[in-house]
Amino acid sequence: ILLKEGWKRLAGMFGDAKLNTLSLKLNPFRKISINSEDCTMAYFSEKFEFAAMHKLWAGQLSDEQNLKVFGKCANPTGHGHNYIIEVTVKTPIDEQFLCVGDFEKIVDDGLIRLLDHKNLNADVSHFAKINPTVENIAVFAWNKLAGRFGKALLHSVTVWETDKTCCSYYGN
Ligand code: NI
Repeated sequence: ILLKEGWKRLAGMFGDAKLNTLSLKLNPFRKISINSEDCTMAYFSEKFEFAAMHKLWAGQLSDEQNLKVFGKCANPTGHGHNYIIEVTVKTPIDEQFLCVGDFEKIVDDGLIRLLDHKNLNADVSHFAKINPTVENIAVFAWNKLAGRFGKALLHSVTVWETDKTCCSYYGN
């Protein structure tokens, strides 16, 4: 209601500039947004963390090329990151399709448990032959979570490997 009212009051107040997004930050990890793409939907986002080890390497490249392409992430014995993943689902703004506790349990059980404190290359069979890049982890997360939130639809997943390196995926 707060967001809807805010949107009504603010949209159209910026002249030629258009209101794009209005977000209500509930805590440092959780927010609800309205987006100009479709004002009838509410977007709920929550950030989760996991720590994991990986090594980025392409078999068809030489050692030298691998180091050039993947930099520090090609360290032969691997290295770790504290990953952040933000999962966003959308529901019609007037419907209550989402219980936060259920949402968190689905993400924890369906995704975080598979990745946290793992060696991604060795422990997660999906990454045995696919490089665990931030892009591929985002696609993996999407595939694990899509369709699991009942009537709420998965909208996007964003994975941060560091503050500077992230990838968002919106499905096909
Ligand atoms: Ni890395």
